[in-house]
Parts: sequence; C-alpha cells; structure tokens
Amino acid sequence: MEDQKSAREKRKDEHLKYFLLSKPSGYNGFSDVVLQNNSLPDADFDEISTECVFLNKYIDSPLMINAMTGGTEYSGDINRKLARLAVKFNIPIAVGSQTVAFDNPKAADTFKRVREIHRDGIVIANLGANRDIEDVYKAIDMIDADAVQLHINIVQEMCMAEGDRNFRGVLENIKKIAALAEVPVIVKETGFGISFETAGKLQAAGVKYIDIGGKGGTDFVSIESLRNSERECPFLENWGIPTALSLFQCRKASSDMFIICSGGISKAEEVVKALCMDGDMAALGGTILRILLEQGYDAAEKYMAALLYEIRVLMLLLGAKDITDLKNVSYLLKGELGELVLSLKKLYKF
Ligand SMILES: Cc1cc2nc3c(=O)[nH]c(=O)nc-3n(C[C@H](O)[C@H](O)[C@H](O)COP(=O)(O)O)c2cc1C
Repeated sequence: MEDQKSAREKRKDEHLKYFLLSKPSGYNGFSDVVLQNNSLPDADFDEISTECVFLNKYIDSPLMINAMTGGTEYSGDINRKLARLAVKFNIPIAVGSQTVAFDNPKAADTFKRVREIHRDGIVIANLGANRDIEDVYKAIDMIDADAVQLHINIVQEMCMAEGDRNFRGVLENIKKIAALAEVPVIVKETGFGISFETAGKLQAAGVKYIDIGGKGGTDFVSIESLRNSERECPFLENWGIPTALSLFQCRKASSDMFIICSGGISKAEEVVKALCMDGDMAALGGTILRILLEQGYDAAEKYMAALLYEIRVLMLLLGAKDITDLKNVSYLLKGELGELVLSLKKLYKF
C-alpha cells in the first residue's frame, strides 16, 4: 500500500516534468473554423461582458482552469498559483486527480489549499471514471467541491506500463455516480476527444456536463513515451479527435448538455470559436501550466489578462455584446475540419 501510494506521487511529479519536455499534439481543428468580420456591431466596447453563470455562481468569463495537479509538495505549490489565478479572474478551477490523497493527509492538503484560496469561487473535484461512489464522496468533501470531474484516460492508461487494462463497466459506474453524487458530474476526456456516439451514451446515462478534452494540445502519448521508454506508443501519436471536431459532434449529439471545450486551447480566437460553435465554456490546461512553470506567476497573470481582453475585442468585432449573443454568430468550416464534418453529416444523417 505504502509503495503504491508513493508510486502515484512519483508519477504526478514525473507527468509535470515530461509534460514540459513534450510538445502540443498540433491540429485542434480551430484553424479551419472561419469567423466573419461584422462592420456594424452596434455595440460599445466598454459594455461587452463575458460574465455568465456556472454551477449557480457568477463567473467573470466562460473559461476555467482544468484538472492538472496536486498530491506532492511541488504540485501543491502549482495548485496554489493556479488557484490565485482563478481568484484574480473569478473563474472556476479543477484540481488534479485526488486518488493520491485518500490515504495521505499531507497529499490532501495540496488539494485543500485550492479551496482555501478560492474560498467563494468554483472548485471542482477530480478522479477517474472507474472509482466507486465512496471515493467520489471523499473527493467532493475534501475540497467542498461545486462539481466533480470523472476523467476518462484510456489512451494514457494503455501507454503506461503500470496502467489499467480493464475498462469494463465504466459507463454503468458513471451512471451510478451521476445519480448519487450530491454535486453535478462532469465527464471529461484528457486529450483524445469525445465522439458523437460517446456523448449520446453519456447523456443517456444521466450526465449533464461533459468536457470534450480533444486532441491538439497536451499529448499524453508523448508524455508517457518520454516517461517510460520501454513502453513507447508512437503508433498512437495521431490518435484522437481534434477538439473542434469533437465539439461539433458532441453538440449534435445533445442540444442541452453543458459542453466544456478543452484540448489545446491557447488563443482568444479559439475560445470565441468554441462559443460560436455552441460550446458553453472553454478550459485551459497545458497552455497555462506551461506559462506558469516556464515564465512564472506574473507571466501567467499577464497571459490571462491579455486573453480575456482579446476575447472581448473579438466579441465586438462579431457584434456580440455577451456570451449568449456569441451563440448566434454563424461560422464557416474549411479544410480538414470542413471535410470531416461533411463525412460526419453523411454518416449520422444530421
Ligand atoms: C501535467 C498534467 C497533468 C494532468 N493531470 C490530470 C488529472 O489529474 N486529471 C484529469 O482529469 N486531467 C489531467 N490532465 C489533463 C487536462 O485536464 C486536460 O484534459 C488535457 O491536458 C487536455 O487539455 P490541454 O490540451 O488544454 O492541456 C493533466 C494535464 C497535464 C498537462
């Protein structure tokens, strides 16, 4: 047990180390989404607002910091800085997988500090979609969470020598958790995207929030290959659904699920495109982590401020005074994404 615990903690810090050595996986699809200039926006820039409601709380922007760290002193320090950013910009934050903290009070502190810092804000718990309901209750209680993310990371598990191999019963488990958890459940991918069919199954299981975690950003195939050279998975390097394609099909699968768009989001234009494509929120993972670790807290704060300013400029240029208006902005698709969307339409007849 002791050995298993320390292996988990070691893995957390290794992921951070190899994440920094890895490169984003590339095409997330948004370069093939085209927005058009509105020369008559009939709006005052100073009145453009990104404020919205999420999980019954007002937030300043439909943007969140996604699950990444916690469990060790090093990653706990990162959590503290990410939480400061979440407070500064009044946006939600999810902690990294909390399993590591179930039997270790010291590790639990590295997650609890996020709630201590973001006292009145939105803090989201995180653990694997295969964990049982008792673990879900523990994770929520640990940080007084507003919601819980259940992550699905099958590609990563298959690339890890020590990873899980049995994925039976996960949907049934999600269904049970969605019915029993005292806070909303968000099912999230971790960089390989959610398909039309998976989104439909999740909705039928009672899930109301998904985070599509598409391909185009953090690349766990390369992180795991760097971490464990004996078990490289280069044949999976192109695996995954680009974020914009995943978003398109998840929205087709459900008109009312709350969709968080993540996977390689780094530019204001991508956030705005995700909202125009009827995503409800965008999430930043590797982008903000890399800036924080390579350039420090002030640079991360500067990046966030610029990103939020640029989102508002783009909203003006699209004639959108608020987030709801963005949903009515039309967009065009070109290139690879355009072709894939046409194929999807033929396949599913939508
Ligand atoms: C170092 C690192 C650790 C992560 N740990 C977790 C985790 O514990 N739980 C989880 O659900 N996702 C985890 N993720 C995945 C992110 O939440 C996100 O789904 C993924 O990185 C794709 O988004 P991105 O391209 O914006 O990074 C981690 C990502 C990174 C970079």
